[in-house]
Amino acid sequence: MADEKRKRILSGIQPTGTPTLGNYIGAVRNWALLQSDYDCLYMVADLHSLTVRQNPAELRRRTRELSALLLAVGIDPKEHVLFVQSHVPAHTQLSWVLACNTQFGELSRMTQFKDKSAKHPDNVNGGLFTYPVLMAADILIYNADLVPVGQDQTQHLEIARDIAGRFNNIYGDTFTLPEGYVPASGAKIMSLAEPAKKMSKSDTNVNSFILMTDDKDTIIRKCKRAVTDSDGCVRFDREQKPGVSNLMTIYGTFTGKSMDEIAAEFEGKGYGDFKLAVAEVTADALTPVQAEYGRILADKTYVDAVLKSGAERAAHLADRTVSKVYRKVGLLQLDK
Ligand code: TYM
Repeated sequence: MADEKRKRILSGIQPTGTPTLGNYIGAVRNWALLQSDYDCLYMVADLHSLTVRQNPAELRRRTRELSALLLAVGIDPKEHVLFVQSHVPAHTQLSWVLACNTQFGELSRMTQFKDKSAKHPDNVNGGLFTYPVLMAADILIYNADLVPVGQDQTQHLEIARDIAGRFNNIYGDTFTLPEGYVPASGAKIMSLAEPAKKMSKSDTNVNSFILMTDDKDTIIRKCKRAVTDSDGCVRFDREQKPGVSNLMTIYGTFTGKSMDEIAAEFEGKGYGDFKLAVAEVTADALTPVQAEYGRILADKTYVDAVLKSGAERAAHLADRTVSKVYRKVGLLQLDK
């Protein structure tokens, strides 16, 4: 965090499974790219993942693996801060105060709450309901200016802004109102099997997603099986041609080409050629990340040292905000 005047970024990802190409294009890839212009804090959101029942040993393993993967993507832990959410207790401290300033009605309207409640009807827990409040705490505790996320998180970002604005009105200027950074293209990568649905790591159909750790053969196989349409023309039309448009978005991300350029490139060619080209540029982008990932993950001591230092640096900033907020709401603080 070299330059104090630079704007600040905070974002997070849950350790609930291996990240998909959707996580990569919608968020994590941008996290790496934004490092040159912002002071960044990136977080493995392990507390959020408890809203769905987890296998404890697996959650621990995945938390370390995801941290290594973020390093492999290019997050620079010297210039920026990489940490695990539960290692900075201030997030949960702020979350309680914010929950007391958030309305039941606001939380009831969250589409992710409705979706996840429907998906896990046997475990509609309080954490699932207050999930956006913890997420607001994650962001507001660092006074983040910018939050790079995919489209599915924009509603959570809106409520974070609402909570911040309301708190500032009642208690005086305290929190920065965060802006979302949602990429113009790729903010919602769709399922390869059902292109009307978001690509998700929790999907039960393994052919619906490409994982960041998938090898080239797997990526080719999954792309070849991707659902398209019968019109045989590579043309961008989200409504009429969701499958092809999704593949074009992926291709455009890795080649830098516009949708018109891609349509021209594949004019007169079949979907077979097009799908293979998508698979190749995807594998070319992921292969170096995978090699780095293997190397970094083998050095558990290094990964843990990064996380320890990250937690200390994050806690230093977060604790200051919690003290300020506790004072503002009237909690008695004793001299140190
Ligand atoms: P999570 O773990 O579900 O996803 C991590 C990031 O990946 C994006 N994403 C996608 N983008 C494009 N296409 C897709 N198919 C796709 N699937 C996922 C998500 O939008 C997200 O940016 N609640 C957050 C984690 C979190 C957080 C935060 C984020 C906790 N605290 C504070 C920002 C700020 C989540 O569950 O992300």
